[in-house]
Amino acid sequence: MKANTQRLGCTHALNAILQVDGLGAPCESLSATYFRKVFERTRWELCGLAKEGMKDIARFMVSREAARPGMTEFTRYLRVLPGTQPDYLHPPYVSSRKRAPRKPLVHLPYTISEVTGPVFDPDLAKPGSFDLTRQHSGEPLGERIVVSGRVLDESNRPVPHTLIEIWQANAAGRYLHTVDRHNAPLDPNFTGRGQVFTDEQGHYRLVTIRPGEYPWRNHYNAWRPAHIHFSLFGPAFATRLVTQMYFPGDPLLQRDPIFNCVSDEKARDRLVSVFDWESTIPEQALGYRFDIVLRGREATPMEA
Ligand SMILES: [Fe+2]
Repeated sequence: MKANTQRLGCTHALNAILQVDGLGAPCESLSATYFRKVFERTRWELCGLAKEGMKDIARFMVSREAARPGMTEFTRYLRVLPGTQPDYLHPPYVSSRKRAPRKPLVHLPYTISEVTGPVFDPDLAKPGSFDLTRQHSGEPLGERIVVSGRVLDESNRPVPHTLIEIWQANAAGRYLHTVDRHNAPLDPNFTGRGQVFTDEQGHYRLVTIRPGEYPWRNHYNAWRPAHIHFSLFGPAFATRLVTQMYFPGDPLLQRDPIFNCVSDEKARDRLVSVFDWESTIPEQALGYRFDIVLRGREATPMEA
């Protein structure tokens, strides 16, 4: 802890604040006036700590670092390219017509609130929560699959020890949820929820069954393609991601307004897993690879 404090220091902490805000100026070249401006902007978030000045910013940053072994670098978040995230208004997706903002968005700079986030204890995940086929006394119906991949940041570095949560419909396309009224059977051996933490290199692995397609009444004869919902936190609130993973070759993708809210084709394709021979288990389960990038120009799009 002492070594960290000396290495990080006030200068590094201020640099971190500037870098994550996309300003990126070397700290040495900053004038005292400019520093005060930046510090004032973050002051309200530091609450009582702000009264004590720069040292407390540094201590705050150090404590974050100490809480995350191996994650000593603060990331600079680049603005995403147009079309690579879901459009707020996508008329074929009926819900977006009412909730899309009608006025231009106001740009808010990143401060402490966005560059920090909750740290989850890996012990929170129950043993075996990565395997959705073994959560009950019997096996669920459907095709067993393995979903694996890596979680990376926008600089292609692994995101270790981060919580991934998934939820999905059963093989018949029915969620175990009170508002799901789809006329399809529930499976007593399938809850449809799982958790896993990434390892040191950002790898994760889940075992589940391939979810079924289901109708959703967005338009006449509307069916959602098979998908698994993903939730990730990453190292900060700015890296929070809730998205959906799809399956390659699904004919429903081209008709799905949620999938097509992302207008950039390459970005859209990042939502589609790839068949993975390496993780396929003989006579047991097909493997699908789904790499996830939190933030940046290659980011996995959020769910619409
Ligand atoms: Fe869904």
